[in-house]
Amino acid sequence: MKFILNGNAVNFQGETDTPLLWVIREHFRLTGSKFGCGIGACGACTVQVDGKAVRSCCYPLRLVEGCHVVTIEGLGAERRHPVQQAWIDEDVPQCGYCQSGMIMAVSAALAQKPRPTEQQLIRQISNLCRCATYHRIRAAVKRLTQEPEV
Ligand code: FES
Ligand code: FES
Repeated sequence: MKFILNGNAVNFQGETDTPLLWVIREHFRLTGSKFGCGIGACGACTVQVDGKAVRSCCYPLRLVEGCHVVTIEGLGAERRHPVQQAWIDEDVPQCGYCQSGMIMAVSAALAQKPRPTEQQLIRQISNLCRCATYHRIRAAVKRLTQEPEV
């Protein structure tokens, strides 16, 4: 299966129904994307496929053939992404386990609909946080929607 992973052409020979998360973590050793629920509910495993946020724990490898896959490791590879900066500015994470998924979901939403309102952006994020950092996530989202260019 050939696809682009964080800007690099890669080829993974394996079962086509293997969840993308397993391939990313176990084969490519990119461990920023986390395993939480395994059933598409929590969003800890969120990555972007052709710019769209997907829950990689239940996203079969066959769907990424020829696609651009971006993980948290690739998001800020060249320079820190504005979402990452907002997360730092608002000191969002506690344990951090859910946060790469949160950031990938928010950055995908912003790329698909630039200049959303705070409410529009919050409504698109259904990721869960066991540490309940939602108030700080909301503050970071508010900051992003107030910035001149994201
Ligand atoms: S681990 Fe994928 S949605 Fe929870
Ligand atoms: S920061 Fe701990 S689960 Fe979200």
